[in-house]
Amino acid sequence: MEFEHPFGLAAGMDKKAEALRGWESIGLAFSEIGGVTMLEQSGNPKPRMFRHGADRALVNRMGFNNPGSENVVKTLQKSGTRTIPVWANLGKSKITPLEDAKTDYSTTLKRLWPYVDLFVINVSSPNTPGLRDLQHGDHLKGILDACIEVNVACSKESKQNQKPLLLKVAPDLSTDELEAIIDIAIDCQIDGIIATNTTLLRPNQTHKVYNEQGGCSGSPLKNQSTEMIRHIYSYTNGELPIVGVGGIMNADDAWEKITAGATLLQAYAGFVFEGPGLTKSIVHGLHRKLRDSGFDTIEDAIGSSHRQR
Ligand SMILES: Cc1cc2nc3c(=O)[nH]c(=O)nc-3n(C[C@H](O)[C@H](O)[C@H](O)COP(=O)(O)O)c2cc1C
Repeated sequence: MEFEHPFGLAAGMDKKAEALRGWESIGLAFSEIGGVTMLEQSGNPKPRMFRHGADRALVNRMGFNNPGSENVVKTLQKSGTRTIPVWANLGKSKITPLEDAKTDYSTTLKRLWPYVDLFVINVSSPNTPGLRDLQHGDHLKGILDACIEVNVACSKESKQNQKPLLLKVAPDLSTDELEAIIDIAIDCQIDGIIATNTTLLRPNQTHKVYNEQGGCSGSPLKNQSTEMIRHIYSYTNGELPIVGVGGIMNADDAWEKITAGATLLQAYAGFVFEGPGLTKSIVHGLHRKLRDSGFDTIEDAIGSSHRQR
């Protein structure tokens, strides 16, 4: 796929797919809707989202509140002509047992297939009990294979190309766990990895926000996510596209993730603390970084920190 520039919207901001025009209008290169689950669900009781302004950090335990795959399809059907690619983040319905997760994910994929350009298989949210267990072994392979099978079938039926499938991983994996996941993803011919979802770690226990249960994102996640990108890039010799997300607040953060190995970038917390102007500051800032570094294109800069060592 081709993108106007590398910066897009991360999952969770537009869970209902109701603001597609807005994401286009603030200059993003792509947007990601969802997490969408097969069934409609209300998520965890409120309050479930907390902000720490001074640290530019969020803690959330939303729990995949969303209208469900059938209702999201209805919204997408009414959403008009697109000017940027729309990605869909797929989660598992809370009441679906882990053994049936593959049907839950692949049903949502099938329903949304005609209306989105790329799918993200999200097995890394910390806010659905047991979800992160789906990152491992047979569970993961079962989900990826089921999604690929539906992707192939929808492509044949509609006589259109298959859509890229990405896997989104948690930042809290050990190196061994991460490498095992990458091996499975490559074996299943997944098109790329999104690194990362929110973390269970906290920078400290002193502020009350950090004592809330859930996943932490924003600045405290930045280095953890960049190091994971760096490791995935070197483990795969730069051959598997990586989407970098976690704590991107400015062009320096964005550049760090690109040179660590990210091909595309996303943000959620950055928009909460910096507002919609974040897109412009990052895209213009990346142009300046490119000029100052002497690279001709962003492609040349991807993973360049590995080559300077
Ligand atoms: C309130 C909230 C809801 C989120 N919902 C989802 C989700 O449904 N699916 C998902 O894969 N990630 C979800 N995320 C994670 C973000 O997409 C992103 O991976 C994470 O916040 C790190 O990026 P950031 O530091 O720019 O916020 C959510 C994050 C927040 C703060």
